[in-house]
Amino acid sequence: MAPIPLVDVKAQYAPLIPELLERIQAVLDSAEFILGPNVDAFEREAAAYLGVPQTVGVANGTDALVLVLDAMGIGPGDEVICPAFTFYATAESIARRGAIPVFADIDAATMNLDPADVAERITPRTKAIMPVHLFGRPAPLRELAELGVPLIEDAAQAFGSPDIATTGVASTFSFYPTKNLFAFGDGGLVAVTDEELGERVRLLRFHGSRDKVDFQLVGYNSRLDELQAAVLRVFLRQLGEWTRSRREAAARYAELGLGELCELPPDEQGHVYHLFVCRSPERDRIRAALRNSEIGTAVYYATPSHLQPALRFLGYEPGSLPETERVARDNFSVPLWAGIDAATQERVVAVVREAAAVAAR
Ligand SMILES: Cc1ncc(COP(=O)(O)O)c(C=O)c1O
Repeated sequence: MAPIPLVDVKAQYAPLIPELLERIQAVLDSAEFILGPNVDAFEREAAAYLGVPQTVGVANGTDALVLVLDAMGIGPGDEVICPAFTFYATAESIARRGAIPVFADIDAATMNLDPADVAERITPRTKAIMPVHLFGRPAPLRELAELGVPLIEDAAQAFGSPDIATTGVASTFSFYPTKNLFAFGDGGLVAVTDEELGERVRLLRFHGSRDKVDFQLVGYNSRLDELQAAVLRVFLRQLGEWTRSRREAAARYAELGLGELCELPPDEQGHVYHLFVCRSPERDRIRAALRNSEIGTAVYYATPSHLQPALRFLGYEPGSLPETERVARDNFSVPLWAGIDAATQERVVAVVREAAAVAAR
């Protein structure tokens, strides 16, 4: 039987190749590759999609975070509270600015920040909270907003969720090729609810200049390419259908009985299932069975950010974030993408069932 990848990116864009080639050809014909009409149009279309006044295209999701922190004036001596159970770039962006990432624990059921634990870590130096909409599930924004500290939403994994980007002062997105909305390479976006902040991010992404003559800030060179923006405009129109398909696939795993074999991510309306991440005390056995059957599986954040060598100077020890460390030990993902079919999912569940039966013997 053919191997099953963890995510089949090509299956998602294959039907769109003729239209993509037309859009790419148009960019080649125009010979405008940097900050042209496609970036302008994509920024407007993405703002309308997200329900925010303004977005700014940037080079990747990591830069998006750094640019927002810089635009907010966050730097040395400032603290920003974030999860450790996320891709390393979340905390790295804070450290990159010379500010201090303060790690809060997660709620193991949702794998997102636990607002009660965040509340305990607020100090007079706290300048922002950076929740992550992990694996496509919106973080508890209402509870976090009630803490009275500006929110920067790391939405790298959650484009398409209706419940994000309008609470935080800014939200950041990555268009890395496996993301829900993706490009053919690196790309990122900053969405803002505060227009002044948006203008500052816009200045910073191009050396602090509007016109290449006056340079008002010490900035960056972090731009979204025209070619990527042209591709993203095609994909943005497809995103509603892709999200519907992802949610349907998640529901199908539950219908197929995967929830009797391991703990499934609890569903909620705004969850856009960037990844389908389950939990089990038997996860190593289950993963070995999946790998033996050539079925894609991964463990996320096995070494959470607070225990990464580069951030050792922050002084966190094993055991300091118990829920984070628990989930790092028992999570695993199974294949999911927009368009995955029922037969593929049935094969995945059959292998997990067999592994679980062996474990029970
Ligand atoms: C939660 C999170 N934050 C930030 C990033 C960084 O995005 P990028 O790889 O585009 O720099 C990623 C993804 O890779 C991510 O998953």
